Amino acid sequence: MVGLPTDFSMETNTQRLLHTFATLADLGQEIANTADFEEMLRNSFHLLLGSFAIRRGVVGEYDRERGELRLIASRGLAQSQDTSLPISSEHAREVASLGSALSLDDATKEAARFLEDHKESFAAVEIDLLLPLVVRDRLIGIVLLGEKATGEKFTEEDLEVVSALARHIGVGIHSHRLLEEVETKAEENRRLYDGLRAIYKETVHAFAAAIDIKDRYTQGHSVRVGKYSEIIAREMGWSDDAVEGIAIAGYLHDIGKLIVDLNVINSPERFNAKESKEMSRHPAAGYEILSPISHPYADIPLMARHHHERIDGNGYPDGLKGDEIPPGAKIVTLADSFDAMTTDRPYRKKLALRDVLEDFRANTGTQFAPEVVCAFCRAFLKEIEGTAKDQRLIKLLGKNYDNVESVSPLLSQLIADLDGGTMAATAH
Ligand SMILES: [Fe+2]
Repeated sequence: MVGLPTDFSMETNTQRLLHTFATLADLGQEIANTADFEEMLRNSFHLLLGSFAIRRGVVGEYDRERGELRLIASRGLAQSQDTSLPISSEHAREVASLGSALSLDDATKEAARFLEDHKESFAAVEIDLLLPLVVRDRLIGIVLLGEKATGEKFTEEDLEVVSALARHIGVGIHSHRLLEEVETKAEENRRLYDGLRAIYKETVHAFAAAIDIKDRYTQGHSVRVGKYSEIIAREMGWSDDAVEGIAIAGYLHDIGKLIVDLNVINSPERFNAKESKEMSRHPAAGYEILSPISHPYADIPLMARHHHERIDGNGYPDGLKGDEIPPGAKIVTLADSFDAMTTDRPYRKKLALRDVLEDFRANTGTQFAPEVVCAFCRAFLKEIEGTAKDQRLIKLLGKNYDNVESVSPLLSQLIADLDGGTMAATAH
């Protein structure tokens, strides 16, 4: 019967369309990679042509800046070698204003107009329909469709279906370009951020040098404290970012000294009560200086503020106890003391390493945090035993210390005592 083949062909047609829609929906999944995306777009376009047995067609992406239509896929236009066609912004606006739900009449008229504008590229080529790809009122691209292989004319229904398929392609192109833009912006931001970080680090180094120049007895102190802090934090398993941050905190921990009376800082004697009071302003002053700055690392101002706190609460400026003290400040405290004890001061010579470690032992749990002392000793011992990557700590100590390895039994003992908890764990 006549009805049967028609039903059959309708069924086939519907299935083919469903398949095409499903493929086009996948466009959304493939938008990340440009090469894959364009390949997928070409396949989808050929499917669209196949669904209606259309012999020839073009899909192009509109490049607003260059004022051209870049051809992504075409079929049946072998004579045209062009990969892009000029299209004025005015023309693009007009086409976009027709929207994606245009009438058959408009689609036919626009196709004729487009052919007229690009005669050289489309000589002797029949194009029946032009479909603008429009997303949010902007022209994303254009689809041009030639006649059906059957020779039948396009109907309004055909146009509706083809337009719906084309809309998928338009949205796919749009999403892909948006993603590309976001990636470019993210890359730009990353570069900007890296640049800012570099500037920040250079500024911090300049400040560290300024702090150390003011205090002529402690040349290089801030930089060494930064580096000792870094070594300890790394041994404690801090992340790379946090380790970088604590190095910065070390460089800046004494920045508050910039506002302390120069005569007090450079006094060759031990401080009297008045001078001590003047000097003890520096952690809070440092906090005031550092807190308005937005640092790319956490807690820099707090680490400066609390680097003279003690675990037992007898430190300054806030008398914080145990875990009230930020972890980074506990590290800077030990690094600061280590450098103070291992460098000559106007009122005393540097201590022997054995005495430094005795001081650590005596003051762990009161002044110093046990976990920080323990990490310091572990890092030091690893360098002496040659199991560390490098000998940063030993190099920082300088040539003034011979026979560094002689303290390894002391280090081992201190680690064992701290790990075994035989030393006062106190407030921690
Ligand atoms: Fe200090």
